[in-house]
Amino acid sequence: MGNVLVLDHPLLQHKLSILRDKNTGVKEFREIVGEISALMCYEATRNLPTEEVDVETPLAIAKCKVLAGKKMAIVPILRAGLGMVDTMIALVPSAKVGHIGLYRDPDTHEPVKYYCKMPTDIAERHVFVVDPMLATGGSASDAITFIKEYGCKSITMMNIIAAPEGIAKVQKDHPDIDIVVAAVDEKLNDHAYIVPGLGDAGDRIFGTK
Ligand code: PRP
Ligand code: URA
Repeated sequence: MGNVLVLDHPLLQHKLSILRDKNTGVKEFREIVGEISALMCYEATRNLPTEEVDVETPLAIAKCKVLAGKKMAIVPILRAGLGMVDTMIALVPSAKVGHIGLYRDPDTHEPVKYYCKMPTDIAERHVFVVDPMLATGGSASDAITFIKEYGCKSITMMNIIAAPEGIAKVQKDHPDIDIVVAAVDEKLNDHAYIVPGLGDAGDRIFGTK
């Protein structure tokens, strides 16, 4: 079974409390999603493999470590996952970005796929699938299934807020995947929204409501 890592760093928790506030406006919401994503990326990449290189400083040769191999890919689930990408690429400029478009059918809450474009060498990379919300887990599970079809073996799911139901679904469908979150909330409501959550992440990032 993959690990579930709940990041309880004080900075993350402070920023998350601002995201949850219904009075936080679009500009601040978007900025804080970015800041949280950078902090989460820092922790989620802790176990990436490194290799030793010699670097000539002005004084001597230093034995240094750099990220090994093809490094990573970031795959946001559209739309809301887009809000997490920019600050992650700022930390890891060599990362390539794939996109998966999924929306939840408002009645069935089942994910509907409308777009998919992956880097050609994605199978050789560690893939971080990013989406602020893991609710029923349907979108995340389908996204991971699509990514595995490209031959990817090393995948981490990264969400800001998860419901217990979503974590259980991803663990059941993809027991090989690690999940990194900043909070596990209480439950889903009748509309499959996370409670207390933060509302509709896509709408709050893009100002569509
Ligand atoms: C939201 C969210 C996730 C999904 C989570 O997207 O960003 O992708 O719902 O729900 P699930 O775990 O029950 O599948 P939404 O479908 O609202 O699309 P949007 O990002 O385009 O608004
Ligand atoms: N999608 C969201 O944006 N928020 C939720 O609480 C659940 C799904």
